[in-house]
Amino acid sequence: MATVDDAPAVADLVHRAYRSDESRTGWTTEADLVGGQRVDAAMVSELVTSPTGVVLVAEDDDGLLACCHLERRDAVAYLGMFAVRPRHQGRGTGRAMLSAAEEHAARAWGAATLEISVINHRHELIAWYERCGFARTGVEHAFPYGDERYGLPQRDDLVLLEMVKRLGPAA
Ligand SMILES: CC(C)(COP(=O)(O)OP(=O)(O)OC[C@H]1O[C@@H](n2cnc3c(N)ncnc32)[C@H](O)[C@@H]1OP(=O)(O)O)[C@@H](O)C(=O)NCCC(=O)NCCS
Repeated sequence: MATVDDAPAVADLVHRAYRSDESRTGWTTEADLVGGQRVDAAMVSELVTSPTGVVLVAEDDDGLLACCHLERRDAVAYLGMFAVRPRHQGRGTGRAMLSAAEEHAARAWGAATLEISVINHRHELIAWYERCGFARTGVEHAFPYGDERYGLPQRDDLVLLEMVKRLGPAA
């Protein structure tokens, strides 16, 4: 689990994986949809010190390899800020991190459902989440237009699609 000391590296990894030019070397990126920052170190520090959440991290010899944020919302756990170093994507690290998050949500918190939200235009990513057991709920959340802490949208038709996965005893 990340601590406040890890916050700058987590923010950097998230930026590299989501929006940087380097993100284009991965198999999925939002660099063409949203510019600017996804999160900064101060925001990550708030997340790691929150009593209702954790930031899970995986490291290798080159430093931070993967991360995700999990937040407890009663019987639902919300997963966000999910990132793998771009050049290491597509090797199963994301699936392994997702399994660790599911296990934490189910065992530590007793959560029955894992929820994510995905930008509507990220078709390849939505397909992957479906292969991982998530389904769209039909609920759409507004993209945070006008709040530069979450980036600079490059088009005006972005919405966040809600997807959920039931967590069974085996999660
Ligand atoms: C989403 C992310 C965390 C997944 O991590 P990862 O390490 O790449 O995940 P995995 O290697 O476990 O799985 C990659 C999947 O993509 C598939 N894939 C690989 N190349 C692909 C391509 N060019 N097009 C579509 N799918 C592809 C793989 O077959 C695999 O699917 P499978 O698990 O059904 O076999 C990572 O890609 C990432 O950091 N993306 C940028 C940030 C982001 O978008 N985060 C999520 C926001 S909601």
